[in-house]
Amino acid sequence: MTEKLAILGGPKAVTIEDKDAYGPWPIITDEEIDLVTECMRRGWLSGTPPIVEEFEEAFAKYHNVKYALAVNNGTAAINAALFAVGVGPGDEVITPSYTWHCGVTPILACHGTPVFCEIDPKTLCADPDDIERKITPRTKAIIVTHIWGVPAEMDRIMEIAEDHGLAVIEDASHAHGSVYKGRKVGTIGDIGCFSLQASKAVAAGEGGILITNNEEYLKWATALGNFERLWRWPDHPVYKFRNAHFGLKFRIHPLAAAIAYVQLKHLDERNRIRRENHMRLHRGLRNIEGLEPQYIPPYVQMGGWYGFRVKYYPERLSGISKKLFIAALRAEGVKASLERYPLLHLEPIFSDRNLKIPAGPLRCKNASRRLYKKGDLPVTEDVYARLIAFPKFERKICWDLIDQYVEAVRKVAENIMELKKIKNKEFEVPVEAGTR
Ligand SMILES: Cc1ncc(COP(=O)(O)O)c(C=O)c1O
Repeated sequence: MTEKLAILGGPKAVTIEDKDAYGPWPIITDEEIDLVTECMRRGWLSGTPPIVEEFEEAFAKYHNVKYALAVNNGTAAINAALFAVGVGPGDEVITPSYTWHCGVTPILACHGTPVFCEIDPKTLCADPDDIERKITPRTKAIIVTHIWGVPAEMDRIMEIAEDHGLAVIEDASHAHGSVYKGRKVGTIGDIGCFSLQASKAVAAGEGGILITNNEEYLKWATALGNFERLWRWPDHPVYKFRNAHFGLKFRIHPLAAAIAYVQLKHLDERNRIRRENHMRLHRGLRNIEGLEPQYIPPYVQMGGWYGFRVKYYPERLSGISKKLFIAALRAEGVKASLERYPLLHLEPIFSDRNLKIPAGPLRCKNASRRLYKKGDLPVTEDVYARLIAFPKFERKICWDLIDQYVEAVRKVAENIMELKKIKNKEFEVPVEAGTR
């Protein structure tokens, strides 16, 4: 049946106007406000007051791990984790190119070398086979991102790491509360790192936290940016750095810890809302010709769900360009957009031979700077070109709106030939908005 597409003057498929469905995030209740107020009244504005340790204990308990260390952002958590597992000049760390740069660039801060691996086209997470191919005698660690909440293939990755004596750092910044084969993400590798930035499922405003069962890793991670907490370990080598350390300060703001402490209490319930909405969208979209939502393995329970990505196959949709398809969706009222993450291996810092770098780790003689160019990660580049970002529905159950979304996408896909009429027009469509 032909329905007139909105882009050609037909009626919009999405008629529900519900600003509340899309945001804003985070949800702040009186509980956060009361706790922050109480902390201020107590003068807990710096150092490590009890709220910081209470938050760490709650986070460790939620994950059923021994240790948690709160820091000032997720980037710092990755940096401290790399330091703890011993990444230094010349060491290689394998990581996907399709992730947020702050999960990768701390490798540079440690004077290490990021080595990019391909992603699995289905899950969009690091491809274990390519991780294995990229291992050299200099490889020290692997960082995997559980991108948009979907866990990387951790069993295989841990097996590979064990075989080669490598440390595994999980970047779970998108995936608070995601479960892989019965285990929460962040607890499977050697260290799990989480951003607590304002848009994350557990939001502190700005903040980060790492978790581990390894006491040595905890102590060295603490040594990098939390020198004031080293007095606890007089018998350990880190004690020597309690008065003068490595020039970085990663302490979390106590008020941020207070906000995150309350947010954590709501994580499971808010993850349930995300799942109910996004699984409905997923089920609706996955049967539409030419579209494939990010694959969620059957042994995964989604948490965090930091983004919703769909791959677009123009070869199955009469060759209509992705931009035109998105423009048609937007005309129907679907807030679809282009991917906002760049591919890291093509960013100047990893691809431009002539960068002027006046100072910093990239000038370290022992740190090898590996340069990349288009074509170096053909699978990742192909998948990336197909990605469409859909909005997140994380505040409340909104199935009526989601059902209209599915119908709108179906309408455009089923009437794709109509778009041929406007094939010569250039459409500018927005990149997904978002604070990181
Ligand atoms: C995958 C990933 N890793 C690391 C980070 C860095 O976290 P932060 O912004 O808290 O430093 C982010 C932030 O968006 C992220 O999405």
